[in-house]
Amino acid sequence: MVQLITPTPVSTIIAQLQENSERNFADARAMPPQVYTSPAFLEVEHTQLFRKQWLCVGRVSRLQKVGDYLTCDVAGQPVVVLRDNQNQIRAFSNVCLHRMSVLMQGSGNVRSIVCPYHAWGYTLEGQLRGAAQMDRQSGFCKSDYQLPSVRCEVWQGWVYVTLDADIEPLNQHLSELDALIAHYRMEDYVETFQEEHVWDTNWKILAENFMESYHLPMLHRATVGPHSRLDEMECPPGHAAFNYHWITKEASLAIGNAHPDNTHLKDHWRKTTALLTLYPSHLITLTLGYFWYLILQPRGVDKVHIRFGGGLSPEFINDPKADQYLSSLKSLLDEVNAEDRQGVEAVMRGVSSPLAKPGHLSHLERPNYDFARYLAQRVGAL
Ligand code: FES
Ligand SMILES: [Fe+2]
Repeated sequence: MVQLITPTPVSTIIAQLQENSERNFADARAMPPQVYTSPAFLEVEHTQLFRKQWLCVGRVSRLQKVGDYLTCDVAGQPVVVLRDNQNQIRAFSNVCLHRMSVLMQGSGNVRSIVCPYHAWGYTLEGQLRGAAQMDRQSGFCKSDYQLPSVRCEVWQGWVYVTLDADIEPLNQHLSELDALIAHYRMEDYVETFQEEHVWDTNWKILAENFMESYHLPMLHRATVGPHSRLDEMECPPGHAAFNYHWITKEASLAIGNAHPDNTHLKDHWRKTTALLTLYPSHLITLTLGYFWYLILQPRGVDKVHIRFGGGLSPEFINDPKADQYLSSLKSLLDEVNAEDRQGVEAVMRGVSSPLAKPGHLSHLERPNYDFARYLAQRVGAL
């Protein structure tokens, strides 16, 4: 006879997570397995995180010209972000005001927004400007139609949106991080590639993988592992909006260190990499020569959509060997990502098993502890 497993109530999962996150760091454990597997918990994350926080959609350099646009999904709300005729970056609901079709797909450049269903057309400012065969309807008035705005701000070259009308402005939200990483001048880094992927894991398993470098010597033993010094990693306590840790890169990886033309950085800062987790789902590796990032969106409990991109610092972009640096960086990142994918998909299979049990965290997993506390606090705010 088949035995049905009753799902753990979401209130029990939240209580377990909170109890866990109240432990001292020295006694901290990984998060309970159900936070990765429960559809009800994911629904709470949608409500409490993805519909209420600032979410990154990519680099502002993708929106250089009037009419450049990109689309994204914010917890079930299609959003289009674009550069309007006044050269302002704006975001709108990407849903037609007629019979509610999604309007734009992917990214590109347009002179206006035209619905693919019945061709209602909108300006880049979101005003309805044309609707065929509507003039016999006396109740219809074109000027009543304006696509709802979505809050949108730019920080250090990143475009963020939020569905929350009350959250503090983005630059205020991330001001403590500005103070920590100002010397990298991240806003000047040049993006050279971006891709989208879907992996078979919970979004938090991938985020947590990114926020600790404890796994580098083992999981990445065929690539970056041998260059990683666990004893040189520093994991300070996190802040309300983000966590971070510092690692050093060996001089053998030229683009991991400051370029000779970079004269504003001294001593150990010339080889220090910042690993940043901007809650909930924007992850950045910021070295002196290159950066790469992941923007995560859950697609169910066991699938994550990834926007993956990166590029070089201005000194390396201007170096005659920039193309060479870029192709070796991209091959290295592709290999490292393949290793991470194996790692995080194996964790997903593990947390889904009946005997899975969370163990103690290392001192190198301080960011994971802070992430769990952030999560507990957000999902507890019901
Ligand atoms: S749904 Fe957009 S024009 Fe009809
Ligand atoms: Fe990794």
